[in-house]
Amino acid sequence: MDWFPHRNGELYAEQVPVTDIAEQFGTPAYIYSRKGFEEGFKAYQQALAGWPHLICYAVKANSNLAVLNVLAKLGAGFDIVSVGELERVIAAGGEASKVVFSGVGKQRHEIRRALELGIHCFNIESDTELERIQQEAQALGKVAAVSVRVNPDVDARTHPYISTGLKDNKFGIDIKTAPAVYQRAAELPNIEVLGVDCHIGSQLTSKEPFIDALDRLLLLVDQLRDMGIILKHLDIGGGLGIAYEAHEQPPTPSEYLGQVKERLAASEHHKHLNIVVEPGRSIAAQAGMLVTSVELIKQSDHKAFTVVDAAMNDLLRPAIYSAWHDIEPVVTNNGRQEILCDVVGPICETGDFLGKDRKLSLAEGDLLAVRSAGAYGFGMSSNYNSRCRPAEIMVDCDQVHQVRRREKLADQWADETLLPEG
Ligand code: LLP
Repeated sequence: MDWFPHRNGELYAEQVPVTDIAEQFGTPAYIYSRKGFEEGFKAYQQALAGWPHLICYAVKANSNLAVLNVLAKLGAGFDIVSVGELERVIAAGGEASKVVFSGVGKQRHEIRRALELGIHCFNIESDTELERIQQEAQALGKVAAVSVRVNPDVDARTHPYISTGLKDNKFGIDIKTAPAVYQRAAELPNIEVLGVDCHIGSQLTSKEPFIDALDRLLLLVDQLRDMGIILKHLDIGGGLGIAYEAHEQPPTPSEYLGQVKERLAASEHHKHLNIVVEPGRSIAAQAGMLVTSVELIKQSDHKAFTVVDAAMNDLLRPAIYSAWHDIEPVVTNNGRQEILCDVVGPICETGDFLGKDRKLSLAEGDLLAVRSAGAYGFGMSSNYNSRCRPAEIMVDCDQVHQVRRREKLADQWADETLLPEG
C-alpha cells in the first residue's frame, strides 16, 4: 500500500498535495504519513496474532516524538540503544515496561535510568556488561531482567556495514560461549534471566538467514533447558528489508513470522516462548519521503547534474551505503524533457548525491520526492556544512502537522562560545 498516491499527475501525502505542503513549510522537508507508520506496525500485529508477543519498534529508525506517539497508541513496545532514546519514548507516551535495551556500550548512568523506569529487558552483549548491570541493580535494590544477545555467526547477505551477526562483527556474544554467560547470570542475585536475543543485520530481503539464526537460537534454548535454565522469550531482532527498488521482494512480516511461529509450534519445548521483534525500517521507511527543490541543472560535456536543496547531511544513506532511493518529480505530467542526471546536493563532497544516473523530467524550481526515506533519514541527519536540518511534517488524512520545525541558523551555534578576550 502506498501512502503517497499519484492523483492527476501529482504526488499526494495521504489526501494532501505535496506541492501544498512544500509551499507552506519549504524544502527540504521530510513528509510522513501517519497511516504508513500505523499500517507498518499493524502488519506485525497481524503476523503475530495468536502467539504471545511484544513488538518493540526500533527507535533509531525514526525517533520523532510524533512517530513514537502514534506507535505507542497502538500498543507498541520499543527497542532502544541509548538513554536519549529511552527518554524520547517516555516523552512520547510510551511505556517503559515494554522497552528492550540493546547496544554494546550501555553506560552506567543509562543502565541506572532504565532500572529506575523499570524497562522490560536488557539485551546484554558481553559478560562485562552483565556484571555492570548486576552492580547497578544491586545498588538500586532492583532485579534486572536480561536476555543474552547471541551472535549466531550467520551471514545476513546485506551491506557489510549493516550486517551484525557474523563472528567478525562487534555485536553479541558468540553462541558457543553463551551458555557460560547464562550460567553466571543465573547465579547473580539481582539478575533475572528472561530470554535470548539476536539481530543479524538490517535490510534482509530473504527469510533464510533469519531462519538459520532462529534454528541456532533454538538449539541454545534446548541446551540451556538441559542446564536447568528455562527461557521465557525469544527476541529475534529486526532487520526485515523493504523494496527500495521494484525488483527487491523481501518477505512480508506475515511470511517471515508465519514461518517463525511454525518452527516454534513444532516443539513442546518452544511453544511457550514469547516472540519479541525489533523492527525499524519495515515499519518506518515507506511511511516517509524527503521532498527537495531543484536549485539548478548543471550540464557538462558528458554529464548532467541536478543540484537540489537537500544533501547528504539530510539523507546520508546514498553517501555511506551507496543506497538506492527512488526519486520522482512531485508533478509528474510536467511536460518537461527527460534528462539523464546525477541528483546531487550542495555539499563539498563527491559522496554528496541522492541518486546517480536517473532519468528525470525536471526544471529549476521543480519539486522532487526521494522515496522510502522514513527510516534512517532524519535520524542520521547532521549539520555538516552548517546546514540546518529539515522540517518534519506528518500528514494525517487531510491534516498537516509540523512535528519538528526546520532548524534555524541560530539553533546551530546556540551552545557554542567564543574564547574570552585577550
Ligand atoms: N535491533 C537492533 C539491535 C538493531 O541494531 C537494529 C538496527 C534494529 C533492531 C532495527 O533493524 P531494522 O528493522 O531497522 O533493519 N543506518 C542503516 C541501518 C542500521 C541498522 C542498525 N540496527 C541504514 O540506513 O540502512
